[in-house]
Amino acid sequence: MTENNNTEMPVMNFGDWQRDRVTHIDWVAGEFLPKPGREPKRLTGAMRYATTSGGKRIRALLCYAAGLVTEADEKTLDRSAIALELVHAYSLVHDDMPCMDNDTLRRGKPTVHVQYGEALAMLTGDALQTEAFYSLSMVENPVVAARLLATLARASGVRGMCGGQALDLAMVGKQPTEAELLRMQSMKTGALIMAAVLMGAQSGAWERLGLGAQAGLTASADAIGLAFQIVDDILDCTQDTATLGKTAGKDEKDDKPTWVSLLGLDGAKTRARELHDRALTALAMVEADENVKKGATDRLAQIADLIIARSY
Ligand code: IPE
Ligand code: IPE
Ligand code: MG
Ligand code: MG
Ligand code: MG
Repeated sequence: MTENNNTEMPVMNFGDWQRDRVTHIDWVAGEFLPKPGREPKRLTGAMRYATTSGGKRIRALLCYAAGLVTEADEKTLDRSAIALELVHAYSLVHDDMPCMDNDTLRRGKPTVHVQYGEALAMLTGDALQTEAFYSLSMVENPVVAARLLATLARASGVRGMCGGQALDLAMVGKQPTEAELLRMQSMKTGALIMAAVLMGAQSGAWERLGLGAQAGLTASADAIGLAFQIVDDILDCTQDTATLGKTAGKDEKDDKPTWVSLLGLDGAKTRARELHDRALTALAMVEADENVKKGATDRLAQIADLIIARSY
């Protein structure tokens, strides 16, 4: 496998593939964003600060991994992966603002509003979001571009991330039922994770996948997205601030309902493991498709493993 060829079946070990993809998406981000010093300097500086300052790049990894299923080309995957990371970065900038979670630390550094002020933070989020859609508009095949734009728009707005964030804020100090918590989390975090998997697959020959494989990918993404948020909730109360790179214990302090407050720590861990198993079962459905190469879902399964491993 050459360094930047995402289309071959897995031969690198997962750690090497992960490092290669993270380095690559960091490079794509650096190339795509307005260059340092470009006017308006404070805004372009804040956009780079918010996007190129680390992060696990889980959404980009999921996108590249799902691209293996439909043998997507690297350029389209880059457009999709950076769009996902830009929407994610924008959601974090706004999530950290005083009017939302009021956080001062993100990825081990002062949050954007602390560093640049609230007005700039708001504009940074706005500008990152529109750059994401600009990236997708440059996908050459117009049918693929339209499909990707629709998937990301649906996942980001009122039906997805923004809607979920609104439900999250409305739940502060309340004790939601499991169904209510599930709905909120699957919108605020799950929708963009779902989009990452779908956009990876839609960057390639999506229409060649049978309905079973499409349903399998969707079901695996659903399980991975929920497991991811459960682990985020677990780590908020089990890790320290230095390890997390964001203020630990914030959910309990702010009286936010989480999977830990609903199920307890052990219950949350068990639920995350069940979801991991569900994701792997769903991926087996994808591999059963005659148009999917054997081993094409291995990277997705390994990312599911990685997400769970974080909670130990
Ligand atoms: C944090 O996302 C916010 C959630 C949706 C749980 P990540 O844990 O993916 O954040 P980074 O990108 O790695 O910093
Ligand atoms: C944030 O969820 C989800 C989005 C930004 C859409 P959290 O508020 O739990 O994320 P962290 O813990 O601040 O990263
Ligand atoms: Mg929040
Ligand atoms: Mg937050
Ligand atoms: Mg959190």
